Amino acid sequence: MLYPSRKRGVPVRAMLLVVAIVFSGAVCAEELPKATVTIDPAAQTVAYNRMIFGGFLEHFHRQILGGIFEPGSPLSDANGFRKDVIEAIKELRTPVVRWPGGCFVSSYHWKDGVGKDRQPSYDKAWGVEDPNIFGSDEFVAWCRLAGIEPYICGNAGTGTPEEMSDWVEYCNQDKGRWARLRSAGGHPQPYNVRFWSIGNENYGDWEIGAKTAQEWGLFVRETAKMIRHVDSSTVLLAAALSDEGWTKNLLQNAGGSLNMVSIHGYWDPLWQQDNPSDYATCMMRSDQPARQIAATERIIEKAGFRGRIGIAFDEWNLRGWHHPGRYHEQIQARDRNDRNATYTMADAIFSAGFLNTCLRHAETVKMANIAPLVNTRGPLYVHPKGIVKRTTFHVLAMYANLLAPRVVKATVASDQFQHGGAAVPAVDAVATCDPAKKTWRIVLVNRHASAMLDCTVKLGDKPLEGSFRATILSGDSPDAYNDTDKPEWVVPSKAELTFANGAAQLPPHSLTILEVP
Ligand code: AHR
Repeated sequence: MLYPSRKRGVPVRAMLLVVAIVFSGAVCAEELPKATVTIDPAAQTVAYNRMIFGGFLEHFHRQILGGIFEPGSPLSDANGFRKDVIEAIKELRTPVVRWPGGCFVSSYHWKDGVGKDRQPSYDKAWGVEDPNIFGSDEFVAWCRLAGIEPYICGNAGTGTPEEMSDWVEYCNQDKGRWARLRSAGGHPQPYNVRFWSIGNENYGDWEIGAKTAQEWGLFVRETAKMIRHVDSSTVLLAAALSDEGWTKNLLQNAGGSLNMVSIHGYWDPLWQQDNPSDYATCMMRSDQPARQIAATERIIEKAGFRGRIGIAFDEWNLRGWHHPGRYHEQIQARDRNDRNATYTMADAIFSAGFLNTCLRHAETVKMANIAPLVNTRGPLYVHPKGIVKRTTFHVLAMYANLLAPRVVKATVASDQFQHGGAAVPAVDAVATCDPAKKTWRIVLVNRHASAMLDCTVKLGDKPLEGSFRATILSGDSPDAYNDTDKPEWVVPSKAELTFANGAAQLPPHSLTILEVP
């Protein structure tokens, strides 16, 4: 059940929301910013890949230990997996999770995390000790329990093509020493892990084992060759950039072996200073993901791989993670990522815009993974006594559960939302429908920080008229957030959205998913 019915009557906030929508209809329409969303019902529809609702989990801070995995907790099962976390993630219907990093993976040796005798490792990326009690077996078991496809990112920093292909043997083969080691650990059946990435951000000088563009192309070619020799059915990705200097060489040398290229994006850089940008400032960055995707599409097309190599935005989040110093310093400061007040409607509305961008680019963007899925800057905050569904949790849940399976481009003509000399369209919209175009789920985002918005929706040349069921996430302030003491300050509300004279009012800082039969 996406939104369990509440025990007491209609929640006050929902009533206030309905009153606000009805009242605003009485407000002179010309006072409100306007937008017109036009959907062509005759246009071609494209099936998007549900893997754009994916997640990422790294051995960083409390994503694994104290996040999804907490042996001994009364909230965990016999294997140490937090049951409340699994339940919440099932509500998101998360299709795929990338693991174990991220920077962590560039000096991680997977063999330390399997078998009976696990010794702790010093994690050179993050300057902490990893007990190695959560390794490949635990990750695959957790994914199976949560109904998630495992996606493993290999160590292209200190690792070798052979070590990565050994990892594929361990997971997917039934012959050889690594398959036998898996079997001896009580897992005779291959795991059939389909998704494998070669490396993480090996272009960055911050990455352990960083490489030049020339080195990278050859390294990926050789690694892909060895992995394909182990399991030719794998879906292979490699670390890339929306920068031709790096990715062109990768595609020239290894493009024939890749299914997707991996790109990353964080748009509020909080790595060193944890001073989160305010709502309006974040909104002004809403168009940056689309620029990154378009640039990557051009590079892929220019290299001759259009239609053959997709894009995985397999680390994305409005907020950069906070880990000041040079990784192995100021470790305690990482606790600042747990401040739930950071994750406001800015995160929710930016994330809705990001997902809309992936939907608009459904022909090239085949996967996207919110970084991370649990704790740090993720949609689900986990603490020893329970969980908090942050604002972005509700965005992911709405998209994953309410959208129809095919996307139709919507043309948006909108007034601007302006701030600090910049401006973005106040409204962002995407239309989804079933293959027969009988049911429509239309995403309407009002980015404006304070103004209701007068929104006209036209199917063809016919404006919508009448009332339609809608699910609306808005909060009562752009800075609203959920926390342990107020877990439902921001929750979606079911409402009837009435289009009178072709227009309806969208609440400020809101995500609306409209159901048009
Ligand atoms: O800040 C976290 C890091 O961001 C991830 O480990 C890495 O992949 C990205 O640079």
